[in-house]
This record gives sequence, C-alpha cells and structure tokens, in this order.
Amino acid sequence: MKIRHQRPTALTHFLFGCPYYPEHWTPVDREDDAQRMADAGVNVVRMAEFAWDYIEPSRNTFRFDIFDETIEALGRRGISTMLCTPTATPPRWMTIERPEFLRIDSKDRRMEHGSRQHCCTNSPGFRDESDRITQVMAKQYADNPHVIGWQLDNELHCHFTDCYCPACHAGFRAWLKKRYRDINSLNESWGTQFWAQTYASFDQIPLPYLPERPTHPNPGQLLDYWRFQSDGVIEFIGRQAAVLRATNKEWWITHNGLFGHIDLWKFAEKLDFMGVDIYPGFHPSQPAQAAVWAASLEMCRSSSGNFIVPELQSGAGGQRTYLHETPRPGQQRLWAWQCAAHGADGVLHFRWRTCRFGAEMYWNGILDHDNIPRRRYKEFSQEGAEFKKVGERLLGTVEYVKAAVLVDQEQDEAHGTMHLGLPGPYDQRNQAYRQLWLGQMPAGFVDIRDSFDGLQMLIVPSFIMIDEEFAEKLAAFVQKGGTVAAFARTATRDRRNHVLSVTPPGMLDRLFGITVEEFGKFNKPLLDICIGSKKRIPAPAYETLKPRTASVAARYSRAADGGNHAACNKPAITINYAGKGKAIYIGTYLNNENAGALIDFITSQAGIEPLAQADEGVEATCRYEEKRRLTFVLNHHAIPKKIQGLPSGHDLLSGKECTGTLILEGFGVSVIES
Ligand code: GAL
Ligand code: ZN
Repeated sequence: MKIRHQRPTALTHFLFGCPYYPEHWTPVDREDDAQRMADAGVNVVRMAEFAWDYIEPSRNTFRFDIFDETIEALGRRGISTMLCTPTATPPRWMTIERPEFLRIDSKDRRMEHGSRQHCCTNSPGFRDESDRITQVMAKQYADNPHVIGWQLDNELHCHFTDCYCPACHAGFRAWLKKRYRDINSLNESWGTQFWAQTYASFDQIPLPYLPERPTHPNPGQLLDYWRFQSDGVIEFIGRQAAVLRATNKEWWITHNGLFGHIDLWKFAEKLDFMGVDIYPGFHPSQPAQAAVWAASLEMCRSSSGNFIVPELQSGAGGQRTYLHETPRPGQQRLWAWQCAAHGADGVLHFRWRTCRFGAEMYWNGILDHDNIPRRRYKEFSQEGAEFKKVGERLLGTVEYVKAAVLVDQEQDEAHGTMHLGLPGPYDQRNQAYRQLWLGQMPAGFVDIRDSFDGLQMLIVPSFIMIDEEFAEKLAAFVQKGGTVAAFARTATRDRRNHVLSVTPPGMLDRLFGITVEEFGKFNKPLLDICIGSKKRIPAPAYETLKPRTASVAARYSRAADGGNHAACNKPAITINYAGKGKAIYIGTYLNNENAGALIDFITSQAGIEPLAQADEGVEATCRYEEKRRLTFVLNHHAIPKKIQGLPSGHDLLSGKECTGTLILEGFGVSVIES
C-alpha cells in the first residue's frame, strides 16, 4: 500500500500568494494590485469563492468581465489563478426562487439570506445548481492558460453542520436504506429495543436531535446521522470535482478546511491534495500555543499528504464581536514557514487588501484600508522572495515522522454520541501531539487507514471502537518492532457503537497482555500513577489492569484522603513485549496535567530521538527526500533562543553554514539542508 501521509503534491512550483476579491475593487485598483502582487513575489491568486451573485446576477445571465480581466492582468505578470466554486454564497434570486434550499437547524429555525453557508449541500435541487455553476465556470476557463487549479466551495461545515431540512430527512432515510437494506438490521444496529424505538420501515425514521427532543438520543442513530452528513458533503464536492475533471484534466483540485463531521480521509480522495486555513490569532499568543496550529497542519497532512494553505493570517482578524492581536514583526513570516515545515507546498495569505465594507471589514489583509504598503506588505514580499529562492528545494520532500498519533474520524463521532464528560480521542490526540511538539520530536498525525510503514511508535488516543482489521494492523506493527501505546477505554465498543460483552480491551487483550478489571473517574484528584518511587502522575480516571503476559510499569498510589479505593496500588501502566516490539497500556486519559510525563514515558520506551534540543516553544520538523534532509527550526518566542543538536548543513534562508548549534532571533526561522 502507498503511504498517503508521505505523498508529495504534483505541483511544479511552490505556490505563494493571496486570496483576492476583484469584485470589491475598481478597475484602477485592480491593475495596480496585479503589479504590486508581482513585485511581492506572488505566483498564484485565489478568486471567486463568494462571487456567485456577480457571475450570475439573474438566472442564466452570466458575466465574467472582471474575472477575465483580472486573470489576464495577473497572467501578464506571471501570476496564475486558482478559482473557486462559489457555492458557499448562493445569490438572493436563488433563495427567493428556491427557499427550500435554506438549511434548517435543530431548533427548526430556517437559515436566512444575508451571510453565508445558508444553503443545504444535501438538497438535490441545490446540488444541481452547484453542478450547473461549476459547469459554467469550468467552460469559461477551460482553455485559459492562467487558471491552474480549483478550490471547491469554501470551508465546508465551518458555520453549519447538523441540518434538519426536509432534504436531509429524506436523504438520511435513503442513506440508511442503502446501508441496512432491511429495517430489522437497522433496529438491531441501533438497539431500538431500548426505549421502545423499533421501526417498521425506513419511512418512519426521524432525525436525531441535539439539543435533545426531549432527552438523550439513540447513540447508534446519532453516529449514523453524522456518517450521513459526512458522506453527503463528500458527495457534494465529488460532483463538483467530476465536472472540473471532465473539463480540464490538468487542473488540480483542493479545499480549505477541516471542520466538523467530515471524514477527511474519504473527503481528500475527491481532491488532488487537501488544504487548510490557518488563523493563529484565534489562540492567545504564547510560544507553546503554536502547537495548536501545528496540529491543524498535521490533521491536513494525515488526510492527504502534502497540502496547501489557501488562507494564512496576515493581520489582525476582526469580526462583529472580536478583534485578534496583530501579528508582531516576523510572526506572519514565521507562520508561513511553519506551514511549509509540516508539508505545505503552497501558502496564500488572507487577504490582499482589507475590505472597506461587509461583515469582514476589519479582517486585516496584507494592505490596510488606505492601500498604503506597510510592514505587513514588506514581510509578505520577504516571504515571496524566500519561497522563490528555496521553493524548489521544498517540493518533492515530505515530513519525516517516527512517532504517530492516530486519527480516525469515526472514533471522534462515537465519543461525541456518548462522551460522558470524559476526554475523547480528539482532546487526547491534541494533548499527545502537543507534548511531542514541545519536545521537538519527529511526530505527526496518521490516519488508521494509512500504512504504518516507516513509523516507530503509535499512540491510540482512547479509540473506543474496534474491529478485526485495526486489531490485526496494530498487532502486526508491534510484531515488526513498533511500540504502540493505548489509553483508557480502548476497544470497548464495536463499529455499530455497541459496548462489547468481552472484558476490555477485548480484541486487543493478547496484544497488550492484560484485562481491565474496573473503570471509574475521579471528580477531584484522588489517586496518582506512580512510576518508581518518585514520579507521580495525575490520573483523571482509572482502569485497574490485570496482567496476563504484560509486566507492570506503574501502579496507582494510595488515596489522597487516606481511605480505601479499588485502584489503590493496582497496576496502572503495563508493557507487553510481543514479537520485536512493545504494547504499552495506560489505564487513564491524557490531560493537561499528565500528558508531559506520560508522553515522555512512551517516547523513551519507543526510543524516539528529538530533532533538536531547545526550550519549549521552539519548533523543529524535518522534510526529506531520499538522501536530502531539510530541518526546519522555528522560534515562536519573541526573544532569541539557542538550539542545539542540529545536523550540520547549509541554512537555505540565511545562506550560513550550521554546525549543530544555532541562535535564532525572536520569531526567527532556519531551514538547514543536509
Ligand atoms: C475563513 C474564511 C474566509 C474568511 C476568513 C476570515 O474562515 O474562509 O472567507 O472569512 O476566515 O474570517
Ligand atoms: Zn439539510
């Protein structure tokens, strides 16, 4: 099997540019913009994702003038265009003509015209409109040499996921019919015997509601509903992709987002490569917070291999109710290099110039409202020059990953159907990754459907659902010498979302060499996990482990209140040696308090070596290709930092030689080729 997360894009040059909205500006602005973009080193511009009303002001009347002219003006200066299907903002005439396209939320409120993402991508009529506008645009630009690729829609599921419109209702029933064929197997799968929910036919099936109507919905039904929503949006983009591919095979196709209830692995199969928008301004500006967007970049990479960033923050973002901190000098460039460090083969800064009207009139672009180029334009131009200089050294390389945190969309969904207020795979995945990131480890996210070849360690962040295929894959990985670490409640349900009758971890009990005797949570700290006599690790919940073939690596402490507790002194962490590898079981969840100690323990057991030694908040990654390595070092601190343990080589940005140690200025970046 090919390794998807190690797949380079087929792009012929590193993409650098910005989203641009010619429909917001005058002809004079547009000519001048093209020149200033060229001066800044832009080689691609993204356009048209919200321009449906311009392109088709009334049904079947089309105008492309400003797009034709802008594409041409840019093209004359060597800048290509990436177009978007404009389906996130269907025009007013359409929502008047076809009000049934509007989404309905779980409180039965019909969405209104006036913002975006108001139409339902499951509506058959709207899908036809989507195919139609895609077809018209594709035809218009089929032979335009400056149009090189497409983004489908815009940040699907960003504002809205769970729709309850009649089309979703009918669609859900049809989806279920296809999945189960006969109603009895649906009844069995959902456990409808509980609370008298047995259905006599597919036509009787209602949608599951959150917030509840009147109380907790059926977890099997909810899981299927989210699967249906994911399949629906994939079908929606699949149709757009088919239209574009049938028109011009040279075009590449991408998207820009990683939002709720989308199985990204399947979604990415419709694309040439995935894309993700990065807005660090949504998180407080502290060095260690950069782990958050590193994790987004990793999610994107796990679904598709190398990818692009169609929107990266350039100024402070502001919407009606908030305003971000403005990136400090050097931060915008640092973030762009961080994208590249995780496998981006293209970066576009959002947006060219700040708009003077509309819901995002304070979402700052590279240029301010007054159109005077200032420090952000200068920094943007510096990036442009740098990517021009070293872009070709980046292409063809992929991220070097030894420690993988596993991703499986269905596990997140299953947790969501019945989360009990406990940490889920999503939280724990980010906790695990953050610690690996803080320790400058060669780490990343990998989907469970991907090949594990080349990896040395896998973290299973409490994947509740288990199936034979995954169980065998984990066992084979350990046999060959890998280290697997799993957390509480792993492998306790089947793929229908039923709790299994076997003692946990059921299908994985041989691999981990244990059974779990008791599970419970602590409302306040009561017992710790003790490694040896000194190290005490907080535990938000406990499983008491009974070793069969595993050895005990850590036990629970005594209870802090001096009383008895079922977990006192019971095994908490075990290691089972199987084949050439190890299977580590940890009877609690990863959280803020314990992730540092637990991830350290696992990486030292697995023998993972860091890429550099530096303070937390200095990031290190590596991209490689056969015999070539690029080590990225990124200082997310505002002050200089010393980095040690680097390979000797040539810094592609400064042109200096590095002999293993480096002082990086505040927000500084270094890319060492060795
Ligand atoms: C993204 C979106 C853009 C713009 C930007 C700033 O989520 O794709 O259209 O809204 O955020 O808010
Ligand atoms: Zn709907």
